[in-house]
Amino acid sequence: MKLSSLQDTFGTKRPNSAAFFERASHTISGGVNGNLRYFAPFPIIFEKADAASLIDLDGHRYVDYLLSYGALMLGHAHPEVLNAVQRAWTEQGTSSFGATHPLEMEMTDELLALYPSFDQVRFTNSGLEATLFALRLATAHTGKACIAKFEGHYHGAHDHVLQSVNPTADLYGTTQAPKSVPESYGTPDYYRDHTVILPFNDWEACERILTEKAGQICAVIMEPLLSGYIAADRAFMKNLRELTTQLGIVLIFDEVKTGFRIEVGGAQAFYGVEPDLTALGKVAGGGFPIGVVGGKRAIMELSSPLRSPKKSEVVFHSGTFNGNPLSIAAGLATIRYLKQPGNFERIVANTHELRSGIDALAKQYDLPFQTLGEGTIFNVMATREPIGHYRDLGKNNGQLRLALDFLLMDNGVYSKPLNRFSMSAAHGPAEIQKTLDAFEKSMAALKQDPLA
Ligand SMILES: Cc1ncc(COP(=O)(O)O)c(C=O)c1O
Repeated sequence: MKLSSLQDTFGTKRPNSAAFFERASHTISGGVNGNLRYFAPFPIIFEKADAASLIDLDGHRYVDYLLSYGALMLGHAHPEVLNAVQRAWTEQGTSSFGATHPLEMEMTDELLALYPSFDQVRFTNSGLEATLFALRLATAHTGKACIAKFEGHYHGAHDHVLQSVNPTADLYGTTQAPKSVPESYGTPDYYRDHTVILPFNDWEACERILTEKAGQICAVIMEPLLSGYIAADRAFMKNLRELTTQLGIVLIFDEVKTGFRIEVGGAQAFYGVEPDLTALGKVAGGGFPIGVVGGKRAIMELSSPLRSPKKSEVVFHSGTFNGNPLSIAAGLATIRYLKQPGNFERIVANTHELRSGIDALAKQYDLPFQTLGEGTIFNVMATREPIGHYRDLGKNNGQLRLALDFLLMDNGVYSKPLNRFSMSAAHGPAEIQKTLDAFEKSMAALKQDPLA
């Protein structure tokens, strides 16, 4: 089979999405409110969601594994989240105080209990704002202007971290000295020049680069699992913690994807390593916009207006909707659900069941697919080779995975082409069976008529 004919069939089956996207693209730039949402020939337009399902403009129903990029850990409109939001709105009479309110304190207490590395927190409206603020705190704390980030790690859509997110082999340099490659047109060269790129999971190279450049680096920011599903070696994480402490570099875990998903206490609980600062987002808002920065008192307090009346001595942070009661109520309901005995474990067990089923089908049809991940996040890689580094992703057969994605969509499963899979409390035995049936049909089709 040809990928182009799968894309043609995709288009023919979705005339309403095609026409709508065509219209949208005239007045919404590219038809999408975020570049990652686009895929060719056109992204599906959804008009409804229900627990673990999405329904598109042409009436097709899909088991949803995108889950708004992993944010909806209890599924769409979980009754406990819905009730909490309705209650907060009714009882408090507003969607935003623009001031401190009691629910913020309840959420703070839950976060401090679950994330022992937090002495203090601040809320933001997105993961982007959380990583941006964490880096500003680190700059203030150390007085150094460069950041170090890992090749292939995503920290949101701001200039300093939009470097080497998905660099290509012709630009990324050697593993011993990876180059900083801008991800976006329009980011000032300053950010490229003040970003040190580290190779994930390669301790020797990281140790050398960090030691050489320690005098310039304020922080190492990282996704503890690359893209949320490629785990670092435990020794790598331990070494990184020790070296950054020795060198006076702030260690920031960006747990926007992994928070509440690898373990309820995040990847830091999984590794048993405490960073200095953490960025959370996605699940923390229970399906509403949120970001959180949490960490050590000595760093967090740099933003306290109680510290000094002088602007020059206080790290600025603000946001109109920071800590708004609806996001906080939804996040609290989600966290409290996940803390009830058995609930998180059930989502993990379901993830394992689904992954084992997919891996078994790949074996049965003798196709080069494998699942990779931890906790409630995984991806389907189109290669039999082991994947442990960003550059290993080059072994993934992107065209084959894309073909699988188009077949899966036609069989009622959606993760957005080439995207990882996230599980939710709404994905039960029926959804898992439907998904495995879709994988079986898709793999059978690929076996019978291989991708040409
Ligand atoms: C690891 C990580 N950091 C930061 C962000 C940015 O979060 P937001 O999209 O809420 O700005 C994301 C979003 O996908 C992410 O995965």
